[in-house]
Amino acid sequence: MTRSSNLEAEPLFISACYCKPTSRTPVWIMRQAGRYLPEYRKIRSQVDFLTLTKTPDLAAEVTLQPIRRFDLDAAILFSDIMTPVEGMGVGMEFNPGPIVSEPIRTASQIDALRVPDADENVPFVAETIKIIRQELPSTIPLIGFAGAPFTLFTYLVEGQGSKTFSQARSFLFSEPELSLRILEKLTDVMIQYLRTQAQAGAQALMIFDSWAGLLSVEDYRAFAYPSVCRIIKSLGHLDIPLIYFPNQGASLLGTVKDCGADVVGIDWRTSLSAAREVLGSEVAVQGNLDPMALFSSKKDLGSKIDNVLKQGGSGPGHIFNLGHGIDRMTDPDRVAFLVERVRERSQAYML
Ligand code: CP3
Repeated sequence: MTRSSNLEAEPLFISACYCKPTSRTPVWIMRQAGRYLPEYRKIRSQVDFLTLTKTPDLAAEVTLQPIRRFDLDAAILFSDIMTPVEGMGVGMEFNPGPIVSEPIRTASQIDALRVPDADENVPFVAETIKIIRQELPSTIPLIGFAGAPFTLFTYLVEGQGSKTFSQARSFLFSEPELSLRILEKLTDVMIQYLRTQAQAGAQALMIFDSWAGLLSVEDYRAFAYPSVCRIIKSLGHLDIPLIYFPNQGASLLGTVKDCGADVVGIDWRTSLSAAREVLGSEVAVQGNLDPMALFSSKKDLGSKIDNVLKQGGSGPGHIFNLGHGIDRMTDPDRVAFLVERVRERSQAYML
């Protein structure tokens, strides 16, 4: 789709998503609201994580905390990828990641998974978005998000986080039909969930596929990619940028380039220039500083940031971000340094 240049009215982040030229590289940070911020920890000392995500005033407040502190170019809704899954009838708690009370491994459990309307499933999410939009400057877009069905599947079947997700992967291969049924239901719920966020005021949508990199290309094509394509296709008419993040997805990019996403998130293991070579010039890239680089000296951090800008700057359509979520031990001053550095230096790297 050709889009006219509208640099004055359109926020930088949105222009960059559509590969339009921008005066500098926009920047935001995955998990920018969270435990590295003392103001977040203060609220969290009073409420548990699930309550925080379900209380619109508090979730809106936490979303805005990093925006007040840093010159970021986008906000992201404070919630979790598992939030809409609870309403499918899956009991869970967080410690600190999601723990599913009864991992899904039988046909009857799968039949029992509900596909509720988003309004009834997560009314607090639309309410949170409305509050955020009222308080957020109009120059700063709000990103809504969902987990990709495959990544949600890994938590549902494994029951908790894992390095290898062996239970989830063995279920996938021993019960491919049942697995596809879970993935179908998750896809239906995520389409509604993302649409509801856009209708409530989210100006871009991101799909987090944190565990896509566990799969071979063939298995990714069979089990993970079709649901992502279906989501993107179903949301195309919304006419807002769609971002897809296949974490550790270097070998998947040749497939991902055709999924229809406006932006592909790149983890730190793949250089942005290599990613661009595979994705082509029509797709924007988002990333990809190693989150742990924020622990290096300012001098080293500065050159690492410049390196990402250099690799990403080889064309319009780069959104600066980390290559995955920020670590909770990060010094917020380093984040301020990063945001300033991107603001000051990015223009020099633009071709
Ligand atoms: O600022 C933001 O980025 C928005 C909020 C956000 C959270 N989770 C808040 C959160 C977003 C976008 C997510 C997405 C999410 N959640 C993903 C995809 C992104 C990724 O990191 O790969 C995944 C896999 C989850 C599942 C999840 N939730 C995990 C693994 C954890 C533990 C995280 C950790 O750092 O230990 C959570 C809990 C969670 N989600 C926290 C936050 C701020 C920490 C909870 C706390 O306050 O105790």
